[in-house]
Amino acid sequence: MIKEKIADLRRQALEVVKEARLSKDLAELRIKYLGKSGEITSLLKGMREVPSDERPMVGKLVNDLREAIENAIGSKENQLKAGETEERLKKETIDVTLPGIKLKQGGLHPVNLVRNELIEAFSGLGFKVFEGPEIELDYYNFKQLNIPDDHPARDMQDTFYINEGILLRTQTSAGQIRCMEKEKPPIKVLSPGRVYRSDYDATHSPMFHQMEGLVVDKGITLCDLKGVLEAVCKKVFAPDVKTRLRPSYFPFTEPSVEIDVSCSECGGKGCSLCKGTGWIEILGAGMVNRVVLENCGVDPDVYSGFAFGLGLERIAMLKYGIPDIRYLFDNDIRFLKQF
Ligand code: PHE
Repeated sequence: MIKEKIADLRRQALEVVKEARLSKDLAELRIKYLGKSGEITSLLKGMREVPSDERPMVGKLVNDLREAIENAIGSKENQLKAGETEERLKKETIDVTLPGIKLKQGGLHPVNLVRNELIEAFSGLGFKVFEGPEIELDYYNFKQLNIPDDHPARDMQDTFYINEGILLRTQTSAGQIRCMEKEKPPIKVLSPGRVYRSDYDATHSPMFHQMEGLVVDKGITLCDLKGVLEAVCKKVFAPDVKTRLRPSYFPFTEPSVEIDVSCSECGGKGCSLCKGTGWIEILGAGMVNRVVLENCGVDPDVYSGFAFGLGLERIAMLKYGIPDIRYLFDNDIRFLKQF
């Protein structure tokens, strides 16, 4: 009887192994037949009922069966694995003749190009970068710059207030005060950053970028201001560019000037870009007002300084011939691609 059972099991097992399609099915069959509580084990448990003189013979049959099943599963496994590998290789083939996917390369925004170029030019003259916050106190943006409450100069800049005493800075000049509070002269810093004013047309944007410069040391004069800015303008615009100072007014500088460069379009003869004057205004500047130095604890009888502030968009527009400031903020790739 047990012999028949063994024969049945053999037929059945070899049949299902033959039918298996996946190697994971074989793993299950291995457990079912050869595992700890599998069919072979239960056959061996039945050995107790076999008469003792038949046991060696039956034992050999069971062993043969185990070996047969092991071999069947083993060779089927090899066969399936080879097929599966072949299939995977077929599925994962790469057509190396297909054209590649082109990655679009980004570029620097024209405002950043100008910013970097200016930082490089000024760094060569020994300036280092000092950055202040965009959300600023009235104290730094106005009061310490000699612009008290109700001063008419506040109307020069339409301010976005956050609440009383806190605002979006209207000028990087706020950084002058922060820098002088922190550092003792000699000071030679450049302070680039975003500024905000409630203003919007072809040459004004509610957010734009300025770059402030501040030099404080013994014996600084207006000649130093002119020399430094002339050197930078020659580097950024053209080696033969001329500069001139025109009197102006800012509460935090005295005297105050506006600096013009000779028109790059007409070379000074007069055209529509320079409105017939031959000159283009590029920045405001002046000698740091004694009051401002005193506010920051710097003795104006020992030290003097100059400061300047320029608009990066304005420089970019002049340099690249951009007619409307809003092109710079539209994020139109057709525009940005040109730089
Ligand atoms: N802060 C001034 C402005 O925004 C520019 C300026 C800076 C003028 C430093 C003089 C000195 O118009």
